Amino acid sequence: MNTQKLSDVGLIGLAVMGENIVLNMANHGYRVSVWNRTFERTQKFLSGRAVGKEIVGFEQIADFCASLATPRKIMILVKAGAPVDATLEHLLPHLSPGDIVIDGGNSYFKDTVRRSNAMPEGILYMGCGVSGGEEGALKGPSLMPAGPIAAWEKVAPILTSIAAKSEDGVACCDYLSTDGAGHYVKMIHNGIEYADMQLISEIYALLRAFRIGTAEDYRMLTNSEIADIFARWNQGDLNSYLIEITAQILRRKDPETQRDLIDVILDTAGQKGTGKWTAIDALQMNAVSPTITEAVFVRSSAANLELRQTLSGVFALSHLTEEIFFSESELPHVVSMLQDALYAAKICVYAQGFSQIQAAKKEYGWSSLSGRTVAMLWRGGCIIRAQMLNEMMTAFQKNEALESLLIDPVFAAKIADAADSIRCVMRFNAYGIPMPALSSAFNYLFTLTSPRLAANLIQAQRDFFGAHTYERTDAPRGQFFHTDWLNLGGSTTSSAYNN
Ligand code: 2AM
Repeated sequence: MNTQKLSDVGLIGLAVMGENIVLNMANHGYRVSVWNRTFERTQKFLSGRAVGKEIVGFEQIADFCASLATPRKIMILVKAGAPVDATLEHLLPHLSPGDIVIDGGNSYFKDTVRRSNAMPEGILYMGCGVSGGEEGALKGPSLMPAGPIAAWEKVAPILTSIAAKSEDGVACCDYLSTDGAGHYVKMIHNGIEYADMQLISEIYALLRAFRIGTAEDYRMLTNSEIADIFARWNQGDLNSYLIEITAQILRRKDPETQRDLIDVILDTAGQKGTGKWTAIDALQMNAVSPTITEAVFVRSSAANLELRQTLSGVFALSHLTEEIFFSESELPHVVSMLQDALYAAKICVYAQGFSQIQAAKKEYGWSSLSGRTVAMLWRGGCIIRAQMLNEMMTAFQKNEALESLLIDPVFAAKIADAADSIRCVMRFNAYGIPMPALSSAFNYLFTLTSPRLAANLIQAQRDFFGAHTYERTDAPRGQFFHTDWLNLGGSTTSSAYNN
């Protein structure tokens, strides 16, 4: 008979995130059992960071499962993809009906749907997005849980206690919906993260490019001055983790060369694919997330350093780019324009993410998925945490079915106020400074706010070459017309292609 004290929760996978989540759970008074495929890693953890805490480790998965109070609550934090399936295959034979398995890794949401559907009778499977990196995992991550509601009710006390708390003390963790919804929301979080980082880096690039003075006598802003600008912005509406760390990054010196570290870092950014998943899903659902998608393209362009170097040589003597000059007295005004424009662009990016979530709610049948909850649990612990999420939460609280954040009067007014700044910043693009995300965000705004787009011409062209028909401004919607553009006398339309 097992006389050992049973653990409250079990965790599988002792890499960086796993270790820190375990410590976080133990620090909140839970007794945690741990298991890792390679036992050495478990031993190292038990004799290292876990010393003195209520953490017990096992070499055999059967012993690990036997050490858990029932219904068992087990979080898996292994590499996304095949390792999750391998872990489940190993684990499931040792579980009993009522036990709960939570995948806390970065799984693709469709894998989570598939795994949920394939669970043996009675095993409750949850997918939980976890954001906040190593520090967040230890001190309080943003948690995005989904799965059977009965499972959530059992794990809610543990998950809410280890989650980050927002400024008003609310845990950044709440039930989202069924099967893959948690990993989906995490995926959208990462898509927004890509776009937000790209927007900030474009603003930094503009600030770096400005020449203050005349062609004969000018100065350029130093990284330290740009850091001061971001730090100041962080005190206002733009207050967010990404703006805060940008100021810190720009101040850091390289110990080797004593230069600003930012100037030593090669301009090729990596990606793990979650931004790409967001873009692919948007395209598949006909959701409109251009800035998120653009941010993924820019990472791929940046990665092609050789091509950029070749082309910059080819165009070196052309007038594709031109320098931007200001006087010292104009600078504060320009900086304030950039601040307003960045704020408006950020709203456009969040609007894209939230609209994609609204589309997914219908597409994947996540009827309980709430924009308010998503905004609420992104307010702390995660990479995209930002002051403006409080207002987004309020916007969805007022109208759960809000189709676009741009409709909310608070955001609509702020964007309208930024109109001059948006125009000013868009003009810089003509100097040849790349601003793919900023211009995409503003074009998203201009497109969605246009009462009449040029799609009438597109539809006329489609009807011209493919008899795809068109609707008329003076006829009810859903009534289709065809013109015999070439006077060929035919009247056959191509209804099969008609959308
Ligand atoms: P390991 O220590 O045995 O390599 C991150 O890589 C985490 O995922 C580690 O805990 C790692 O275990 C685990 N992991 C990677 N591939 C795995 C697999 N196929 N089965 C189980 N765990 C795996």
